[in-house]
Amino acid sequence: MTKNNLKSVGFSHYQLDLEYSEKDKNNLLNEFSKLEPDTYAPAKVSRFRRYGNAIIIPWLKEPELHWLPTIKDDNGNNLSGYDQGSNNPEHKNMRYFRALSDGVKNNALLENIILDDFKNTFGLSDHYLPIYVGIHFVKVKCSDNKLPGFSSPDCFHQDGEPFTFAHLINRSENIDGGINYIGKVSARNKKIEEVSNDEIISQFTLENFLESFAVCDELVSHYISHITLKEDGGESERSMILIDFSMTKQDI
Ligand SMILES: [Fe+2]
Repeated sequence: MTKNNLKSVGFSHYQLDLEYSEKDKNNLLNEFSKLEPDTYAPAKVSRFRRYGNAIIIPWLKEPELHWLPTIKDDNGNNLSGYDQGSNNPEHKNMRYFRALSDGVKNNALLENIILDDFKNTFGLSDHYLPIYVGIHFVKVKCSDNKLPGFSSPDCFHQDGEPFTFAHLINRSENIDGGINYIGKVSARNKKIEEVSNDEIISQFTLENFLESFAVCDELVSHYISHITLKEDGGESERSMILIDFSMTKQDI
């Protein structure tokens, strides 16, 4: 179903239905509670993230996931590099994020999510080289409506990678916004207020654990609106796992 939607309309909004243990779910939630501030976020935007990257060997009967090694910063922290090419107008160069923990990289639920996503892509499984997988854990918070939380880039965009899957981990009670939009390609690089109604293909709000959407990047653009507090006081937050797939190539 997801694959058919990706092929026919370029996106799919669905509830991911996988079996998992409470231990693995709690391990994911625990990882989100430890995310470090995103050093690339604009000042005063509460964004926290870790990143991991892996390859999938696509030609095996049951595709296998292999995590890539991390590098260390001057303080001994593990980092993973993320290159979005020319597809993020806010970030032209490679970004290094704090790496996902070894514990979460061994989480069966996370591995099943990634491999299930991969099964819903098309045109990658017959590639003659490994498939690159980028795994982002991103949490955006807001505790003051004058300082809304938002994602990067803060406009309709395409990611560059052929497929991206987005899975909700948590949406707190006291949250407004955080609405997902799927737009026509013509909306690319436009702010929400610059996009006309006929350029918006769909809009929805992810509410439940592992409620998800996926995009076939060349067919659509996408955008997530700012998050704010529904009622003053406290904090609102939204946690997502974003998984993208792209082909690798030989460099000679
Ligand atoms: Fe995106």
